[in-house]
Amino acid sequence: MLISCWSVKGGAGTTVVASALALVLGRSAAAGSLLADLAGDVPAAIGVADPGDPGVSGWLAAGRDVPADGLARLELDIGSGVSLLPRGRGALGPPERMEALAGLLAADPRPVVADCGVLDHHAPAVPLAAGATQSLLVIRPCYLALRRVAAAPIRPSGVVLLTETGRALGRSDVENVVGAPVRAEIPVDPGVARIIDAGMLASRMPRSVDRALRSLALPLAA
Ligand SMILES: Nc1ncnc2c1ncn2[C@@H]1O[C@H](COP(=O)(O)OP(=O)(O)OP(=O)(O)O)[C@@H](O)[C@H]1O
Ligand SMILES: [Mg+2]
Repeated sequence: MLISCWSVKGGAGTTVVASALALVLGRSAAAGSLLADLAGDVPAAIGVADPGDPGVSGWLAAGRDVPADGLARLELDIGSGVSLLPRGRGALGPPERMEALAGLLAADPRPVVADCGVLDHHAPAVPLAAGATQSLLVIRPCYLALRRVAAAPIRPSGVVLLTETGRALGRSDVENVVGAPVRAEIPVDPGVARIIDAGMLASRMPRSVDRALRSLALPLAA
């Protein structure tokens, strides 16, 4: 099963949500989870050394002749039941190989969470985000972000909302604009930001993030 996490505006929290969801699934799914990094920030967010190459970019560039176990050989065990598929340093393409990657990841028996980054019509991860079983838009209740939803290249099946106190816009405004249900609400909290800044998301998962993502993760782990 492939779960794509993406945004329409930078800095929404996509990498944190994708990483935390993979960590929650790593604990709860029998075979653990796979975290596919298509945006490049996952190692820093979870606090592991950047593996650089080889990564997804190399697999895509290798074309159809890549060995059958080529993707599995890229995986790194990062503990907590999670394997990381690193981005690699090259460009992500061509689109038909990204579609092939989406097919392979969707067929994986483990829940696979992909950090697809910001999606516009030119983003290389669009075919993978579109081919996912679940497509999660990560967004803050922000007018400037919501304006971009209509122009997004795909429609999400659900929303992960990062809620900030004092905002005029709320859950129902977001659901009305996006046309998909909010599946989890994660409070924006300086304590969470400090854990991420310290590169300790994997070792000290914030309770608020864990709680918010658990009900979303449960059916995905089964
Ligand atoms: N729940 C939260 N509470 C507080 N800060 C958070 C929370 N989630 C994410 N952040 C902070 O918000 C910033 C952006 O998070 P993140 O890198 O996950 O966003 P992104 O959407 O992946 O950004 P980019 O578009 O650059 O890839 C980071 O500084 C992170 O620490
Ligand atoms: Mg990111």
